[in-house]
Amino acid sequence: MNPFKFGTIVDGIFFTDRISETALLEQKLDSENHIILISPRRFGKSSLVQKVTSQTARHCINLDLQYVMSIDDFAAQLLKAVFKIFPIEKLRHLMKHFRVVPTISTNAITGVVEISFQPTSNATILLEDAMSLIDKITSSTNRLIIVLDEFQEVIKIGKGFDKILRSIMQKQKNLNYILLGSQESMMEAIFEKKSSPFYHFGQIIRLTKIPHVDFLNYITSRMPEGFEFVANEILDFTLCHPYYTQQLSAQVWDNIKYRDIKDKIVETSIKMLVAMHDLDYERLWQNLNRTDRLTLRLLAEAKLPLQNRSKAVSTTYSSLLRLMKSGYVVKVEQYEIEDPFFKRWILQNIN
Ligand SMILES: Nc1ncnc2c1ncn2[C@@H]1O[C@H](COP(=O)(O)OP(=O)(O)O)[C@@H](O)[C@H]1O
Ligand SMILES: [Mg+2]
Repeated sequence: MNPFKFGTIVDGIFFTDRISETALLEQKLDSENHIILISPRRFGKSSLVQKVTSQTARHCINLDLQYVMSIDDFAAQLLKAVFKIFPIEKLRHLMKHFRVVPTISTNAITGVVEISFQPTSNATILLEDAMSLIDKITSSTNRLIIVLDEFQEVIKIGKGFDKILRSIMQKQKNLNYILLGSQESMMEAIFEKKSSPFYHFGQIIRLTKIPHVDFLNYITSRMPEGFEFVANEILDFTLCHPYYTQQLSAQVWDNIKYRDIKDKIVETSIKMLVAMHDLDYERLWQNLNRTDRLTLRLLAEAKLPLQNRSKAVSTTYSSLLRLMKSGYVVKVEQYEIEDPFFKRWILQNIN
């Protein structure tokens, strides 16, 4: 079986490193404090949190705010997540005081519980009631963990949602929140701006790429015998980005095992992956404005002029901010194009 995995949460043999981060998260979960975990997309936040939470015997609720449409929807999704852990029968008596009684139905085929509320003009009471159920199911002996992914979306969900949520969370005990976010500047504004309701809500932990030595060992030990040498070339291309490193390693492994490619294995694999995504990249490129295209081109060629303070620089800078917001550019030690295959595609097409 291919020993490399990408795209979904990784655990077990697919998971590497993150030793100090794991220890830090465990330590925080062993306190009344909350955790804020920030990194660009696909750096491994979900995988790390899944690893840490699954190692405890504690109940854990996961919600991705990207898929929450409104305050009512948040309340409904929260209840739905609670019913995944505790059977509804056991919770009925805890919901007697609900001011708006939710309609709960079970899909006869999938067994999935669906929740809906009568329309109300006051979504705050739905949120308060749903959160009061959380207080009842958590205890000092089994402290609940609530993971909210893509937390920066909190400000888009509904008017005043962040304020109400924070004021409810403020009073809760016996639980930990882990708030994940992939948009650094928005996460910083939420947790570090004095005027924000979530100012200093918890400790901010930044997840970086996986260290070169760890990834090198990881790849080397998994490649077929005699092909260990590919590891360095893979990392030179992916710059240790967790997702793209696994993706390219998986492709290289397949090419060695099934396609009997012996010469220029890594380069061939890169070309195959770039070709596979050609259509996506072309579409993506078409949707960018000229300034952003130029910025990406300069980044790809490592010619970005950020040294002097000319007007061109400030235009480039606002373009960089825009590209970071949409995830095409990340700042690690310096600005880089997030997807190394897209970078290669740009270089192939501009010359
Ligand atoms: N600790 C790790 N060891 C090996 N690969 C990892 C690790 N963390 C992440 N990855 C790679 O990155 C991909 C994205 O990880 P994920 O946890 O979904 O990131 P995020 O939640 O930050 O978007 C995974 O599918 C895997 O290929
Ligand atoms: Mg994730």
